[in-house]
Amino acid sequence: MKETAVKAALAAGKILKKEFGEHVWVKVKSKIDVVTKADMDADRIIVSIIRKKYPEHEIVSEESKHAKKSDYVWYIDPLDGTGNFSAGIPFFSTSICLAYKGELILGVVYDPLRGELFVAEKGKGAFLNNKKIKVSKESNIAKTILGADLGHVERKKTLSRLAKADDLVRGQRILGSAALGLCYTACGRLNAYMAGHVFNWDIGAGTLLVREAGGKVTDFKGKDWKLNELSVLASNKNLHSKIMQRLI
Ligand code: IPD
Ligand code: CA
Ligand code: CA
Repeated sequence: MKETAVKAALAAGKILKKEFGEHVWVKVKSKIDVVTKADMDADRIIVSIIRKKYPEHEIVSEESKHAKKSDYVWYIDPLDGTGNFSAGIPFFSTSICLAYKGELILGVVYDPLRGELFVAEKGKGAFLNNKKIKVSKESNIAKTILGADLGHVERKKTLSRLAKADDLVRGQRILGSAALGLCYTACGRLNAYMAGHVFNWDIGAGTLLVREAGGKVTDFKGKDWKLNELSVLASNKNLHSKIMQRLI
């Protein structure tokens, strides 16, 4: 299954890399939510690769509907960061995760422009281009770099949290790809990451990466993040309760 997920992510990444800069608009979902030809092309290739190998598995993609029910469910975001992609900002990814009976067992995120492949399997650690990764060791909130995304709704709530964070942390970054925000936390580039109103396909893979890299991922109530929860706070564990108390 790992091989299939990696194959699908790399194939999708190849398409995204090729189409980056072409600016082909397909559909405007809302003022801040768009879909490009690349989203659709990447979706098609991922679904076909998974389907061919595991025809009995359920597939939930941001861009296409597949009705089948199974204990194995793939959550796919063919292009996480369409806003960045369509503006020519080189920060986006493909995110694929697999859950078995509601539990995350595999997560793959690929950044095609940097050639960075993040992979985690439950109980087996987290890897960036085959090298084991770990969350940061930072425990001083004043030295923290906090990543965030605003989501498409409830943006004001996240913005007010970021305003509060201004006095507390060293730096903040609004990224535009929730999947990469979590992966950057998993490999210690960020100390923590938060987003409101994101979906399984955005954050499932990244959540497993953070956990397998030794970090903690909860919802905004402080409960361990589980599928279908819309808010996410990820950290290197040391900082989690401090951020919860001060910001959320
Ligand atoms: C979006 C990105 C963004 C987050 C949005 C997501 P999309 O995914 O992850 O960082 O703030 O909530 O919808 O639409 O580019 O796949
Ligand atoms: Ca997404
Ligand atoms: Ca997407």
